[in-house]
Amino acid sequence: MNVLKYSAFSYRNLKEIEIFPAEGVNVIYGENGQGKTNLIESIWLFTGCHSFRTHRINELIERGKSSAKIELDFFASGREQTATLKIENKREATLNGIAKKSPRTLLGLFNAVVFSPSTMSIIKDGPAERRKFLDIAISLTKPVYAFELSKYLKIVGQRNALLKQIAAGKFDTDMLAPWDEQLAVTGAKIIDYRVKYINSLSGIAADIYDGIAQGKEKMSLSYIHSDGNEKENKELLQVLYDTLEKTRKSDVKRLATGVGPHKDDLEIKINGMSARSYGSQGQQRSCALALKLGEAAIIKKITGEQPVALLDDVMSELDGNRQNYLLKYLGDWQVFITCCDPSHLMRLNGAKAFEVKSGVIKEIS
Ligand SMILES: Nc1ncnc2c1ncn2[C@@H]1O[C@H](COP(=O)(O)OP(=O)(O)OP(=O)(O)O)[C@@H](O)[C@H]1O
Ligand SMILES: [Mg+2]
Repeated sequence: MNVLKYSAFSYRNLKEIEIFPAEGVNVIYGENGQGKTNLIESIWLFTGCHSFRTHRINELIERGKSSAKIELDFFASGREQTATLKIENKREATLNGIAKKSPRTLLGLFNAVVFSPSTMSIIKDGPAERRKFLDIAISLTKPVYAFELSKYLKIVGQRNALLKQIAAGKFDTDMLAPWDEQLAVTGAKIIDYRVKYINSLSGIAADIYDGIAQGKEKMSLSYIHSDGNEKENKELLQVLYDTLEKTRKSDVKRLATGVGPHKDDLEIKINGMSARSYGSQGQQRSCALALKLGEAAIIKKITGEQPVALLDDVMSELDGNRQNYLLKYLGDWQVFITCCDPSHLMRLNGAKAFEVKSGVIKEIS
């Protein structure tokens, strides 16, 4: 999988640009605030996911303009393909000249993994960030998961609306039964996908962490159920239903559904201790990197194609050994890597360098 050509019109501060990236490393450099992250963000959008910086579509359009357009020629599934995204009041996508129903239908066609400063929130922030990491990672290889998840979240919303009506005395708690049934069925599927994903990821991420930390520490991952129950696969549905039934009264009091995959967590440990609570800055960064590179390895295992690596500001945060490990690990991937000072990256074989200045990108030879 690799990008052959990229163009943007009025995307944030990228007014009108066109680049032909290298198959290997592409160094995107420039001073602060010039448009490097904007480029990384816009390439990421072709995965079919939302921006990793905002959900507000208007922010992606150049101020004073009414629409933005980005276009990507990429090599995937053995052929050259073209995707376009037009961003107006909503996002409109085309693939190989054919309009798609929604940008989400691009999921699984153009695969990339992104590491940006905001990736650290997977380790540092609350469970919602770790669920988001899992949800995006699984959706990239199993697009059906994204649809199951949005179905599940819709049911949670409807159940919560009903909880409010019950609290207002309009209905009895028994009215929750059909929603609990639907939640248990869809919720069990979501948990099953996530547990299977973590089972595949944990060994791969632990090996990568081992390489980064040079064998000094061990990283481990586990799924944390919001109701505290460890469940066997076949029991998931029944246990989830029983717990929802048991917690109906307390849910009515708090006007929200307190258990289920929308409340679960991914526990990340280093040497048996929570990376979030006890990890040093460097350990936390290495964990985030191991998760992201592990995510890429799974995409490769499932699709047979190496995803494109989008690395925004990753180098400045890593010491020499870790930088070397990362560059060696990325070996034959196509990489877009941003930095302010490109000198140590320019020496890489076959690397292309692009300078970004006030939203204009120029290839430097
Ligand atoms: N919708 C928009 N319209 C016009 N300009 C925008 C828009 N959104 C962001 N910008 C501009 O884009 C620039 C930020 O670009 P970006 O975040 O890509 O910088 P960067 O090169 O990654 O910098 P850093 O090295 O600090 O991370 C800012 O100057 C900002 O004002
Ligand atoms: Mg930036």
